[in-house]
Amino acid sequence: MTILKDILNKKKSCKSIWFMRQAGRYLPEFQEIRKKNPNFIELCLNSKLSSEITLHPINRFDLDAAIIFSDILIVPFSLGQNVKFIKKNGPELSNFNMEYFLDVTENQFSKILNPVYKSIEITRKKLDKKKSLISFVGAPWTLLVYMLNIKKGNIKEVDIVKLRKEKIIIDKILKKLINFLCIHIKNQIEAGADTVQIFDSWAGLIPAQDINKYCYVPNLKIVDFCKKENISNICFPRGIKEKYYEFNNIVKPNGINIDYEVDPDWARNKLRNVVIQGGLDPKKLLKSEEEMLEGATKYIQTFKDIPYIFNLGHGLLPETDPDRVKKLVEFYRNFDEH
Ligand code: CP3
Repeated sequence: MTILKDILNKKKSCKSIWFMRQAGRYLPEFQEIRKKNPNFIELCLNSKLSSEITLHPINRFDLDAAIIFSDILIVPFSLGQNVKFIKKNGPELSNFNMEYFLDVTENQFSKILNPVYKSIEITRKKLDKKKSLISFVGAPWTLLVYMLNIKKGNIKEVDIVKLRKEKIIIDKILKKLINFLCIHIKNQIEAGADTVQIFDSWAGLIPAQDINKYCYVPNLKIVDFCKKENISNICFPRGIKEKYYEFNNIVKPNGINIDYEVDPDWARNKLRNVVIQGGLDPKKLLKSEEEMLEGATKYIQTFKDIPYIFNLGHGLLPETDPDRVKKLVEFYRNFDEH
């Protein structure tokens, strides 16, 4: 049993810490590799380099879990869309082609993603047995946002007209996506990952009357699949505010990552029968050391007598100083809760 699996299955309560987006952008050792590999998707599909990048933050900070270096957009890529990462503009996907999308078979899909599974195998062998190896997928809605380009330009708002107009198509896409995301999860677990995190990073964009259809139901289907397969799971429905309560009661994941808008005291009272993870605003790591540690203390104190996995309320920002991460990890490890 790995640390996270023990905690998520409520077998044991102990200190544990890892960070979303811990591998990548803010680490000089990643930037060096990235410079030599201009095609990001190709880099994700390079098993040797992906495994090496996965282990960068473990070697530096001795965290309790490694998250495999890949991207949520590798799934739309495997289903036929080109994915480009333009600096400062975020990801750009080529136009969605329904015919092509529906034609991709399970075998073709798993074959394209095989380097990810290979990277997991290599990493598992190198990783301390007690440490967790986390696999992940984007939740269907968050993938749809990128696949159909349903964000309104750069504004953090969804194009409702487009959403309504494409309803029938969307239902069809969702069905296949959920099925293939489950396959991707199962393949990652069979390769040696022990936990899966489901990133619904854009759940906060969903209009209130559609949250059940686009957020709760798809996450529930994936979590139910995980339960059937005995796979430890963590959901991250970012930005849904007080609907975290409803989400937790309906989806019932093993773990739930709170974002930095969720009040930790509220979460402690309202989110029951679930292991809480995260919360600290990643911007705190850009502030004074005092402010960062004060922020961390709030989360540690609030969750001190229930199972809790220390993490952030969203991913580490590219401008984070790695020494700050080190400081935060040391502070957490040395914190005397009693
Ligand atoms: O430690 C890790 O978590 C590394 C693995 C990882 C990446 N992306 C690598 C990456 C993970 C778990 C992700 C998840 C991801 N990708 C999410 C969910 C988490 C979140 O942040 O909300 C989302 C929404 C994406 C989509 C995505 N990929 C965006 C918006 C971008 C561009 C902006 C950015 O984050 O840099 C990416 C590219 C990406 N994914 C990079 C990395 C290291 C940067 C690529 C580069 O060097 O240009």
